[in-house]
Amino acid sequence: MHKSVQDITNMKKEKKKISVITGYDYTLASLCDKTGIDVLLVGDSAGMVMLGYENTIPVTMDQMCMFTEAVSRARNNALLVADLPFMSYQASIEDAINNSGRLIKAGADAVKLEGGSIMAETISAIVDVGIPVMGHIGLQPQTTMLSQGYKVQGRTKDSAMKLIQDAKELEEAGVFSIALEMVSHEVAQIISETVSVPTIGIGSGVNCDGQVLVVQDLLGMYDKIKPKFAKRYMNLSEDIVKSLEDYKNDVESSTFPAEENWFSMDPEELKKLREQIGS
Ligand code: KIV
Repeated sequence: MHKSVQDITNMKKEKKKISVITGYDYTLASLCDKTGIDVLLVGDSAGMVMLGYENTIPVTMDQMCMFTEAVSRARNNALLVADLPFMSYQASIEDAINNSGRLIKAGADAVKLEGGSIMAETISAIVDVGIPVMGHIGLQPQTTMLSQGYKVQGRTKDSAMKLIQDAKELEEAGVFSIALEMVSHEVAQIISETVSVPTIGIGSGVNCDGQVLVVQDLLGMYDKIKPKFAKRYMNLSEDIVKSLEDYKNDVESSTFPAEENWFSMDPEELKKLREQIGS
């Protein structure tokens, strides 16, 4: 039985830290799930790390459903949250509900969307139809990036006040947790102490109730952007490139395949074949 939304919200009450990792494909998500990670997030960061887009803007609902289906086939333990991509929920509440429903049918247990108080009404409407929602404030890649680029949020009193207010309004709207992206650690701590729902930080310091990382950043597989907050636990891209070079060299030198990698005919059958074709 996999973790439920309730299990995750209880973790804050029990003062247990929540571990979240992104997942997009069956193979890697299976490995993540085996570790007992609490939440698998099918983030729209898939657009960058899986599809090679510059940012998350081009990501579509069809793509998010495909990634969500793959991860749902892989998970046995974690709660599965999927991102609503850019313009799948902003234009109307009807869009937001329909697209949230699509992600749930694809296998998600909950959806995540970006935005503070401006999204409160939309979030309430999704929650009212029975779909759990994770909020996302601070740096919002779908929109902040368009106007400001990568910039730490909540460094001034006024911007901090706005973030705290946003968090309170998301809580009132019914979110079960809130992702805080690149929020100054002081403000992330204040928000975490103010709201009753768990905060999940990325680049927002150690006092959030949980942490999330993009799996490719953690494994050292994505070199295009190296955010300061993304701790690399290994440098997998180096190992992958080395293995692929070894393979290429083996093919060129006929070292691969070797006898253990191929299949043979029955010797009698081979003899008959040779007689028939005269070779
Ligand atoms: O898309 C994503 O991966 C995210 C997290 C990093 C919070 O939204």
